[in-house]
Amino acid sequence: MSATLPPSDGPLHAWRAGLLWFPDPGVPQARHESDGLLVTRRDADGVVRIADVGAFAEVAERWPGVPVTHWPHLCIAPGFVDLHVHYPQTDVIASPAEGLLPWLEHYTFPHEKQFADPVHARETADFFLDELLRNGVTTALCFATAHPESVDAFMQAAQARQLRMVAGKVLQDRHSPDGLRDADTRLSLRQTEDLIRRWHGVERLGYAITPRFAPTSSSEQLHGAGEIAAQFPDVWIQSHLAENLDEIRWVHELFPQARSYLDVYDRAGLLRERAVYAHCIHLEDADRRRMAETGSVAAVSPTSNLFLGSGFFDYAAADRTGLRYGLASDVGGGTSFSPLHTMHAAYTVARQNVGRPGLSLAPGHLWWQHTAGGAQALGLAGTVGNLLPGCEADFIALDPRATPLLARRTAQAETLAEWLFALIVLGDDRLIAHTVVQGQSNLVQNARPQNATIGA
Ligand code: GUN
Ligand code: ZN
Repeated sequence: MSATLPPSDGPLHAWRAGLLWFPDPGVPQARHESDGLLVTRRDADGVVRIADVGAFAEVAERWPGVPVTHWPHLCIAPGFVDLHVHYPQTDVIASPAEGLLPWLEHYTFPHEKQFADPVHARETADFFLDELLRNGVTTALCFATAHPESVDAFMQAAQARQLRMVAGKVLQDRHSPDGLRDADTRLSLRQTEDLIRRWHGVERLGYAITPRFAPTSSSEQLHGAGEIAAQFPDVWIQSHLAENLDEIRWVHELFPQARSYLDVYDRAGLLRERAVYAHCIHLEDADRRRMAETGSVAAVSPTSNLFLGSGFFDYAAADRTGLRYGLASDVGGGTSFSPLHTMHAAYTVARQNVGRPGLSLAPGHLWWQHTAGGAQALGLAGTVGNLLPGCEADFIALDPRATPLLARRTAQAETLAEWLFALIVLGDDRLIAHTVVQGQSNLVQNARPQNATIGA
């Protein structure tokens, strides 16, 4: 053993531990290596990417002399991808209400008004991003608020942490309180364009055109958002869709000419690749097919849907119609930043017999939805959410012995599926021993690395 430089100081570094990844990123089949090696390299563009992955005995031979961080009892896995979350709702979490619309009115809108203050926005963005990292989430598609300053604060906080994050200013020019409502629709669209030019593609940041949901945008604002989307084909689009029955009734009243809720977005030009719609619970198959055909995807938000009593995502219907999906916390409607809690809730939701038969989602499939599958839904397959060579080096180290119960239960697991399921059902932020972003360990909780050099 010899002392090594910290990982960030050399172009190459290796990480020896258990490994969990998806060899075919489009297939929800996890591979596990009990003694694996992950090699990371800082490329000429300054981005740290994965250079090699596999069994230690095979991979180590190819990288003599490379410094190694050794975590003998941990398992390295891709950083989680959260497909839908609201950073300004960090302080709304755990606010009960009689469903979505009262919750928005009584808690969410009053809280979001505070984000006109850039100091408050930055303090919250810093806390939020640190909380994501503590929970192993390294990429998120995120709502800001209607205030452009709230986007600047978030992007600056993400940039300071070198994170790959996507966010956008919320567009809402009606049915919203003073101080949150876009008073001038044309100005709100100009602000969106300005923010795209300021932030989209800067380092690892991306912009999402963000109409809150159909009831709080005029037809003019939705169509304006669609025109901006046409002008910037690689920016993201994010909104909410078919979450709650009262919401859906309201949409039908406001847009009587539309065939369905989804059709409101379709007519505005807001369905395409990189368009991510949260919830997608109360849909007809025709809508699911239309989403599939346009490349639009669903952000499944089970803790939020259970907490607000919104309903149950229909996985079988999504699969039979080709609608793609991934998992999301939807904080603050969601009750946890932990992807473990979200995966557990997704399992529970799928299990229920609620007008359709319950089914058991495989643990590897749940994990895929929050990593490689989420990345694919975002159009970022091969960039984040996996450990394949070429992926950016954002990963976590799991400690299956993080609690006495986890240690006891995982020790008895006989298959990878059983082991993963124990992590999902019993895990929380304590499971995340390290979160490594761009080769830098931002968090050391439970475990101490043992450093060495390959061949030494
Ligand atoms: N629909 C419109 N706005 C929101 C929001 O902030 N959270 C959720 N869950 N649904 C919404
Ligand atoms: Zn939401």
